[in-house]
Amino acid sequence: NHCFRKSSDGFLYCEGVKVQDVMDSVERRPFYLYSKPQITRNVEAYKEALEGLSSIIGYAIKANNNLKILEHLRRLGCGAVLVSGNELRLALRAGFDPTRCIFNGNGKLLEDLVLAAQEGVFVNVDSEFDLENIVAAARIAGKKVNVLLRINPDVDPQVHPYVATGNKNSKFGIRNEKLQWFLDAVKAHPEELKLVGAHCHLGSTITKVDIFRDAAVLMVNYIDEIRAQGFEVNYLNIGGGLGIDYYHAGAVLPTPRDLINTVRELVLSRSLNLIIEPGRSLIANTCCLVNRVTGVKTNGTKNFVVIDGSMAELIRPSLYDAYQHIELVSPTPPGTEVSTFDVVGPVCESADFLGKERELPTPPKGAGLVVHDAGAYCMSMASTYNLKMRPPEYWVKEDGSLAKIRHGETFEDHVRFFEGL
Ligand code: LLP
Repeated sequence: NHCFRKSSDGFLYCEGVKVQDVMDSVERRPFYLYSKPQITRNVEAYKEALEGLSSIIGYAIKANNNLKILEHLRRLGCGAVLVSGNELRLALRAGFDPTRCIFNGNGKLLEDLVLAAQEGVFVNVDSEFDLENIVAAARIAGKKVNVLLRINPDVDPQVHPYVATGNKNSKFGIRNEKLQWFLDAVKAHPEELKLVGAHCHLGSTITKVDIFRDAAVLMVNYIDEIRAQGFEVNYLNIGGGLGIDYYHAGAVLPTPRDLINTVRELVLSRSLNLIIEPGRSLIANTCCLVNRVTGVKTNGTKNFVVIDGSMAELIRPSLYDAYQHIELVSPTPPGTEVSTFDVVGPVCESADFLGKERELPTPPKGAGLVVHDAGAYCMSMASTYNLKMRPPEYWVKEDGSLAKIRHGETFEDHVRFFEGL
């Protein structure tokens, strides 16, 4: 049930729409192209998995902060997971119910905590100083804050070290040995804090659900311990982190249902409300970055396809050595030679690659080339390095029509930062 498919005619389609046609009709490349129905299907998969549980799907806004996408996710019933005051402001603008929002982070600023307190969002406590700031924010806002303790369960998520968070050496969360200190601190501030639950987030791109199960067992034990001290905690937040199939090589990966089923009985046994914080698994597979081939070159033994997209628009391969699947959007003439290419951008960095050692038919100049699974942590991590301005975004709607959902950034936008100085 995937939205981007090569059809028997050799063309790539997004839902019913030929990507080549989209490329020919828009004024600028590269661009991000989404399937709106796929976003809906991804949310539905979580909703079906969660049936019979009291739950909040907190969409992690950092994965993709397009306002039109946020509004769509909100209409589908999602809450939001935030890591900055601006993400909170954007969530409010997108109409998210603040009481279904969760504010996370190891360096939350006092002024942002004040906004969170005023709006009544859940706040995850990350450290001693964070707790002090939350107390101060509650006083300034004149509101009691619903808090969860972000406990570092010290479970190895078996992922790239840059996206592992729930292990001992992580900068996130409170060490379990410190739990009593935090419970005493909450007790000391009955006017400012109401402890409602416990949170953990293990890491991202996790492809084994046993890891979530191991963490949930530990977390439920902490909840038992916390309840034994008279706290009425009713929320277990197991974070996000479910991986997706970036390789497109036929592997069977755990689904939202697999994830929820590993924790379902635990959650029910303690009558808990379950909060989950998916980002990638809701949005990554709904989008491609569509690029145009500028040319093909060979340096001794290495072949390169040079495209107009780059690490500025999509940094995951450069930053994490991440694999994202690449293919041409249109068939090449019969007899076109297939070779091994590095797919690279025009940015002045040797780290500027979208894919390494990919088998591709030698593309003609101007050919369309997509990088798949670009819905999560791609546009939201884009930069303007080399003054490659951030690209426009489009989606294909349920009726097969195309709509722009974000303007591309322009040279004039950049120059505006210096006006009047
Ligand atoms: N909750 C918390 C507390 C998080 O830190 C994150 C992601 C999520 C939820 C959502 O995780 P997800 O379901 O998307 O895996 N830039 C990296 C990923 C960084 C993830 C940071 N935290 C990448 O491109 O792979």
